[in-house]
Amino acid sequence: MTGAERTARVMARADELGRISEEEGRLTRRFATPALVEAGRVIAGWMEEAGLEVAIDAVGNVRGRNGVAGAPLVIGSHYDTVRDAGRYDGPLGVLCAIEVAAALGETAGPLEVVAFSDEEGTRYAVAYLGSSAYRGRFEPAWLALEDADGVTMAAALEAVGGDGEAATRQVGEPIAGYLEVHIEQGPVLEDEELPVGVVGAIVGQTRIRVELTGRAGHAGTVPAALRADALAGAAELVLAVEEAMKATSGLVATVGELVVEPGAANVIPGKAVLSLDVRHAEDPIRDGAVRELHEAATQLAAWRGLALDWQVLQSTASMRMSATLVESLSSAIVPEGFAVRSLVSGAGHDAVIVGRDAPAAMLFVRCLGGVSHSPLESVEEADVAVALSVLERALRARAQASA
Ligand code: HGY
Ligand code: MN
Ligand code: MN
Repeated sequence: MTGAERTARVMARADELGRISEEEGRLTRRFATPALVEAGRVIAGWMEEAGLEVAIDAVGNVRGRNGVAGAPLVIGSHYDTVRDAGRYDGPLGVLCAIEVAAALGETAGPLEVVAFSDEEGTRYAVAYLGSSAYRGRFEPAWLALEDADGVTMAAALEAVGGDGEAATRQVGEPIAGYLEVHIEQGPVLEDEELPVGVVGAIVGQTRIRVELTGRAGHAGTVPAALRADALAGAAELVLAVEEAMKATSGLVATVGELVVEPGAANVIPGKAVLSLDVRHAEDPIRDGAVRELHEAATQLAAWRGLALDWQVLQSTASMRMSATLVESLSSAIVPEGFAVRSLVSGAGHDAVIVGRDAPAAMLFVRCLGGVSHSPLESVEEADVAVALSVLERALRARAQASA
């Protein structure tokens, strides 16, 4: 196949995966759902077509080896999505990896393509479930986590043929390194008119569940002074989060989910549950911001007569990428005739998990307007062609150097 044919196939397959969704009319594909299983089966078929020996593990990671013995270089990304997602966040990296594996075959040396089953954490708030299991770091406590419908992770996995207990026993096999192609999800490459860039570091992130409990009451009869309104407290916290972000350079903090109970127009909210996502390139600054927000929540709850439950679900350290693999990607970009642009990723990626005990690096691909986590997510076919060419060149150079 020519490079153009491979690129066209990546685009067509991204469209095909983009149609496999839990929800009518928009793309949502969460961990341990029938839609994810269906997408995993389709990806497994494409990996087999590429000549890979395929296995699907206990949490739905789809893994394809090229049959060459030895600790493999791993290439891939995730195939789960956020709600109302774009079709390229995750799948683009999986599809590029399959194409490069197909093109190189055994000449790549020991190679494994992996499609991770959960990077977003959309269903259970804890992110990186797939790559954590892949590296032998799947935590038993996660199996008891409940989704918005009260379904535990253990039950969800069992319902789709997975096995949570097996996942906790999974060990991380030796690997030589990890390379991931991913859309930038930001505006820099488009602004600088570059098709691809190399990721130098990935910011750290803290995910928190905040529950404020007050007193439900009749909206028509309870005067302000006697209220313990959980939603009013949540609103004050949301604004405090925004103020903290404005006050600290490089900090981003987001309340993306807010559930109000009982959720009736004429009832004073008795409970509010918020998600809080805090990120910064430097871990001490992120940790300090989390402490300050916890203090602000504690004070506003006390003042408003609310009970506060502050649960840190996950804290993931920032990570510098492997200088060796960054150099591999950078050297492979030069022949394309573009400047090598290094970027810090504000988005989290499986590379922060796989890179914990192996060298890792990422190649970013320009995306339209930097938009992601939206159906408006879009990439240029010509930029995907460059990414495929760079990834293939980097793998060829690695294989030749170790021959
Ligand atoms: O949230 C993130 O940064 C990534 O999209 N999972
Ligand atoms: Mn992603
Ligand atoms: Mn994402």
